[in-house]
Amino acid sequence: MKLANHAATLSFSNGSPNIELPIYSGRMGPDVIDIRKLYGQTGMFTYDPGFLSTAACQSAITYIDGDKGELLYRGYPIEQLARQCDYLDTCFLLLKGDLPKIQERKDFHQLIISHTMVHEQMQFFLRGFRRDAHPMAVLTGLVGALSAFYHDSTDINNPAHREIAAIRLISQMPTLVAMAYKYGVGQPYMYPRNELSYAGNFLRMMFGTPCEDYQVNPVLEHALDRIFILHADHEQNASTSTVRLCGSSGTNPFAAIAAGVACLWGPAHGGANEACLNMLEEIQRQGGVAHIGRFIEQVKDKSTGIKLMGFGHRVYKNYDPRAKLMQETCHEVLANLGLDNDPLFKLARELEKIALEDDYFVQRKLYPNVDFYSGIVQRAIGIPVNLFTGIFALARTVGWMAQLNEMIGDPEYKIGRPRQLFTGSAPRDVKPLEER
Ligand code: SDX
Repeated sequence: MKLANHAATLSFSNGSPNIELPIYSGRMGPDVIDIRKLYGQTGMFTYDPGFLSTAACQSAITYIDGDKGELLYRGYPIEQLARQCDYLDTCFLLLKGDLPKIQERKDFHQLIISHTMVHEQMQFFLRGFRRDAHPMAVLTGLVGALSAFYHDSTDINNPAHREIAAIRLISQMPTLVAMAYKYGVGQPYMYPRNELSYAGNFLRMMFGTPCEDYQVNPVLEHALDRIFILHADHEQNASTSTVRLCGSSGTNPFAAIAAGVACLWGPAHGGANEACLNMLEEIQRQGGVAHIGRFIEQVKDKSTGIKLMGFGHRVYKNYDPRAKLMQETCHEVLANLGLDNDPLFKLARELEKIALEDDYFVQRKLYPNVDFYSGIVQRAIGIPVNLFTGIFALARTVGWMAQLNEMIGDPEYKIGRPRQLFTGSAPRDVKPLEER
């Protein structure tokens, strides 16, 4: 970042002296006012619950232009990456800063594919869960448990440890997500196969059984790989900020990523794809397209607390570019599976059309986000609804690791420790029990 050619002057109506705050510019996007000296110079904090106007760090990984609906990973538009690259190319890009050359690509793909097995003890860890446990509860536990198996790569300040942890996590997340699924359905775990692609391996571990050979459907393989690309990173979203804050204490990479998994689970964040599919199924139960108008009225009536899941975004005030690509993938998968008339897909497109013409959504700049169509395509692939967020976590692991690496590698980084506006009780003395 570079010093902008102007500064901010903060003046106070109570006659306190003005203070000058430097302004910095990045490559693109809003400038920032550096308030690091504010408390020391004024004895006051800034106040920004939810961080609507706060840049918590500088980053060179992902850029989002919310007004234009643009998403760039290391400068490359998501549309080009989704159409011309695969997920492991994207992992290399996010971790190392540029797309791999021919030999780098071969080596990285081989490195990932050949580290997909988890420690054999992991299967016994799963046994502690109820069979009907939510996969995200299981995954949060499994990812955190990895730090118990890899004592050789837990020093977050050691770049080599962070590199090894990143490779292990990217390689093993598909295996862990598939194990969480198999445990829930009571089927035997499928060991990864090194001759398959990253997405193909995941499909086989999910839907293959020891009873017969599993044929990977190339259309589903390609669709899943694209879903992984679209979810790989997204600037300083809630789970990425959680990983950064957790990692800033110096904890090991596996623990920091487990914190990200736990945060992603929430319905306002990564859990929205599961919530969106459940919403569409509920509208379908209530009458389908004919019920959309009534549902939209319920959403607009704040007292219902009902939100149009898969719509709206803190940054995008235009169409989420990932939603467009996800809709395209939906078409491809449903056509390949002969589900062109999938009622939920038709319902989703009608719901989107009606919402985008409704003033309530237009005024609030609410558009479909990545989660609006992802549930429909995952359901068509055969992924159970309660595993959608697990797929999101699988794909986002590389983004979390890239962001964690960037933070730890930044000489300016400190442990994250926000302050507060205290509104509680003034000092008071403890009274004896009989006088309370
Ligand atoms: C992800 O941050 C990221 O980058 C996240 C993500 C990533 O890749 O990491 O993109 C992934 O989490 C996508 C978002 C998935 N969540 C959902 O689809 C859940 C539904 N969406 C909303 O909960 C909401 O839009 C958020 C949480 C996504 C954003 O909330 P904000 O930015 O805090 O906005 P807000 O709640 O202040 O909304 C502004 C207005 C409010 O109305 P008013 O008070 O102005 O009258 O819009 C309304 C909100 O009530 N609103 C919605 C709505 N989203 C916002 N009303 C109905 N349905 C919605 N979905």
